[in-house]
Amino acid sequence: MVSTPALVASGRQYLPTPATDCPSPNQFLLPLTAKLNSQDHLEVGGCDVVDLVAQFGSPLYVLDEETLRMACRQYRQAFQRYYPGESLVIYASKAWNCTAVCAIVASEGLGIDVVSGGELYTALQAGLNPETLYLHGNNKSLNELEFAIDQGCTIVVDNWFELETLSGLDTLSGLDTGMTSRPIRIMLRLTPGIECHTHDYIRTGSIDSKFGFDPQQIEKVYKFISQQPSLECVGLHAHIGSQIFELQPHHDLGAVMVQWFQKAAQYGLPVQQLDIGGGLGIRYTESDDPPSIDEWVKTVCLAIVEACESQGLPLPKLIAEPGRSLIGSACVTAYTMGSQKEVPGIRRYVTVDGGMSDNPRPITYQSTYRAIVANRMSAEISETVTIAGKHCESGDIVIKNAQLPKTQPGDILVVMGTGAYNYSMASNYNRLARPAAVLVHDGEASLILERETYHDLVRQDRLPARLSASGNQ
Ligand code: LLP
Repeated sequence: MVSTPALVASGRQYLPTPATDCPSPNQFLLPLTAKLNSQDHLEVGGCDVVDLVAQFGSPLYVLDEETLRMACRQYRQAFQRYYPGESLVIYASKAWNCTAVCAIVASEGLGIDVVSGGELYTALQAGLNPETLYLHGNNKSLNELEFAIDQGCTIVVDNWFELETLSGLDTLSGLDTGMTSRPIRIMLRLTPGIECHTHDYIRTGSIDSKFGFDPQQIEKVYKFISQQPSLECVGLHAHIGSQIFELQPHHDLGAVMVQWFQKAAQYGLPVQQLDIGGGLGIRYTESDDPPSIDEWVKTVCLAIVEACESQGLPLPKLIAEPGRSLIGSACVTAYTMGSQKEVPGIRRYVTVDGGMSDNPRPITYQSTYRAIVANRMSAEISETVTIAGKHCESGDIVIKNAQLPKTQPGDILVVMGTGAYNYSMASNYNRLARPAAVLVHDGEASLILERETYHDLVRQDRLPARLSASGNQ
């Protein structure tokens, strides 16, 4: 049975009406600067979204700088408020990795978590200090490891194979890690065995997970590392999953990690950092009710402080690595509407000029979104329609049973909450060019990702001579 979303009168109802001076961006469907302008259009960051589409083309990712910065600040300030020890927030850049986003979060004092050579390269291109970069991944290539070590990043070691590779790296690759003067800085990722309610594909902390060491083997791992002079183990890491609304799993995680922390000292390891991962969810629909950034940070900090006090341990440096809750609500995707189709007695389809290539989340995780018509914000909601993408795939549905005013081709449809895992998971399926992205701030729009062109689509293609037109003659 398909449930129909609760009725709203018009798109205006999604406009943020913060009840406090410090609204938590992850609790709003639209960016915090979203407004209605005199033309009844949606405005974000002081820019009319309909004008943005006219200027930059469609579809278009519209990223609001103020909302992103506000989320970064709330994380940092909450750690300062609730944690008496040292803390660091690192942005899980898999949510949206590009140079402008990396530069913004770094300018707010955050570090960055990267999971591939490509993400690392992008962060470096953005001018980030490598010391603030952490390389994750369950199957890092030798190349990626060498690249990160050369730059001076911290490596979050996931498994035995990686640990053994790192310990023998000088012999394996001839890499000059400056072993005597500069050991490789590592953290260990462990699987905490903590369950949380989220989609199976984005749950990572249960024991049957491809990520991290089995905590049952922790003493064996510590012993191995304590015999490796080339490795300096500075911290422990765990991540339980993504789009989580409960606070209890993160509270429990704190307690579990402090137990691991305590054991490290027995092996003489210089572990002083605990990284509790990310995972705080955002509001995609009215029925989503995530805790605020402040509440999440408070829970995590209290859990660590309590556990350390009860064990008589010094406070570690506390690290968190949120992705979605930093950037998810800061962006909307604007599409142009096209053809429509009525299946009598069943449903009405309306279409947009993008779909699963710019937002693969609905087809991958059955994720739900809300949409509004940006050029007629006050128009009364009058129909339930299914918004389909333009891909040759029946499952390419952006929103099932969306409630919209009567729409027509040429309307600008805005899907909300598309900042996380949309651009970063975008593809060229059906050889669609990836959309452009603009950063909006105080009425100014700056292009941060150019729209791909047909030329970009064939840039990597190679046509063997015997297949070329002249070769065929
Ligand atoms: N740290 C680690 C080690 C992670 O694996 C992740 C996310 C994060 C931090 C950030 O989690 P967040 O704060 O964003 O929840 N593509 C999926 C989400 C996959 C999340 C993967 N790991 C989606 O679109 O829902």
